[in-house]
Amino acid sequence: MVIKKKVFNVMLCTVVALYCSGATAAGSYDHAVEENGIKMFWKVADDELHVKVTAETSGWVGVGFNPTEQMKGANYIVGYVKNGEVVLHDDFGDGKWNHSEDTALGGTDDFTIVGGHETDGHTTLEFSFPLDSGDDYDGGIDPQGRTVVLLAYGGKRDSLRAMHRYRTTLTVNLATGRRE
Ligand code: HEM
Repeated sequence: MVIKKKVFNVMLCTVVALYCSGATAAGSYDHAVEENGIKMFWKVADDELHVKVTAETSGWVGVGFNPTEQMKGANYIVGYVKNGEVVLHDDFGDGKWNHSEDTALGGTDDFTIVGGHETDGHTTLEFSFPLDSGDDYDGGIDPQGRTVVLLAYGGKRDSLRAMHRYRTTLTVNLATGRRE
């Protein structure tokens, strides 16, 4: 299991607000995709994926990887910012239209919170996670191959039980950033 931090106090981000802003952080990522109010930046570094996801919502924002059927089978990293704190979950698609925490299914939390903030109705989360955590509820990612990426965000509620306001499915090569 890698370092897990469910809650990260974003006071740090206030102090280094510039670092956490899109303009500066974008520079530390290699690739980006954008669809309808949600944007994911990423970088493959060693055996980890570093991600920044930002969406036009004060509720939850999430990414998912490699579903087998609709939402099922995907590894999800979803979260929100509440009272200045980032809350992040490592979930698994345990149904076609459902996801549950890995830990509730017998797996482990596999992510590291890097930062996050909620500003002007936009929520931004930054985190990293292993390409191959070894957890049955994560699945592995081959950055050289085709990766199916799910992007979604909710409405105003800071609740991961709330349905998405927008969701989309993309296929990308994470190493090159090319959309397929
Ligand atoms: C409580 C949270 C969630 C609920 C209740 C939920 C429920 C559903 C339902 C009922 C559908 C079918 C209706 C539709 O197509 O809109 C759906 C589809 C979908 N959801 Fe979710 N979802 C949740 C979270 C997420 C998250 C976190 C993501 C990705 C980060 C996501 C990605 C998708 C995608 C890509 C589809 C379309 C799948 C397809 O038809 O191929 N969902 N979801």
